[in-house]
Amino acid sequence: MQDFNTIINNIHNNLKDNVVKGVVASYIPELSKQDVNQFGIFIQHMNGENFSVGDAEVPFSIQSISKVLSLSKAIAFENNDIWKRVDVEPSGNPFNHLSLLELENGIPRNPLINAGAIVIADILCSQFKNPKQEFLQYVRAIANDQSIDYNLKVAASEKETGFNNLAAANLLKSFGNLNNDVDVVMDFYFHQCALEMTCSQVAKAFYVFANKGRCVNNKQHISSSQAKRINAIMLTCGFYDESGEFAFEVGLPGKSGVGGGIVALLPNQYVITTWAPGLNAKGNSLIGMQALEQFTTQTNLSIF
Ligand code: DON
Repeated sequence: MQDFNTIINNIHNNLKDNVVKGVVASYIPELSKQDVNQFGIFIQHMNGENFSVGDAEVPFSIQSISKVLSLSKAIAFENNDIWKRVDVEPSGNPFNHLSLLELENGIPRNPLINAGAIVIADILCSQFKNPKQEFLQYVRAIANDQSIDYNLKVAASEKETGFNNLAAANLLKSFGNLNNDVDVVMDFYFHQCALEMTCSQVAKAFYVFANKGRCVNNKQHISSSQAKRINAIMLTCGFYDESGEFAFEVGLPGKSGVGGGIVALLPNQYVITTWAPGLNAKGNSLIGMQALEQFTTQTNLSIF
């Protein structure tokens, strides 16, 4: 096997002093407190080995990365029924755009843009008795880590300023594509996005998608075919209007969040998480994307 330790240490060294680091998200005020110099990389290999450099054990706000976890639970509950309410096409638009939603009669383009993730949150609010608690239990179970929790300050901060998401939820409701109360769904959605995890916890949680639906404890949470579909959606939609660029540069299914995290995976081989809070103009971690491009180019380990 290649020397992943040396490779990620070199990448970390090359990029950590970059002058251009991107800009920390500020539309969720609590996230603007992050230090733009933090940078971690973690790899969970499927042979059981793991590799870590920098701030890989510092908890960060996973934000939109959580949309893949909520999608996986909704698919486990409802399987193909969810595709009546949300499509699987890339939107070619930023994560928070609403115009297509109106044009397309309240059916979001995919479950990873905000409107799509709000429909998925609605499904979980219908399926769970105590959505926030039971979703947290699910994430803890797949990551095999009971210490994972919500950051309540981040959830409250997004609730205070989440007018765009509230508009999306109201639009969905007006088209009959939201079964629960807007406030109930949005309270769940803001908490889901405010999950705080380290690079290593995210890599362990996403092991389930690299391992045909079986988590690090070898428990089957979704079927192998469902894992395949989730990976396809990550590849085509995981980076919004930069999904093509991510496939072009990195060549892996993955998901970003405005907290600066990115997780990507090569099925049956490894999961890699990066965290660097500075974002590019599309809302994806600037240094994280560069690190992943260097990793798959140097190792030649991508899906292509
Ligand atoms: O709903 C929002 O706007 C945030 N909670 C999540 C957005 C996000 O992470 C976009 N990702 N790059």
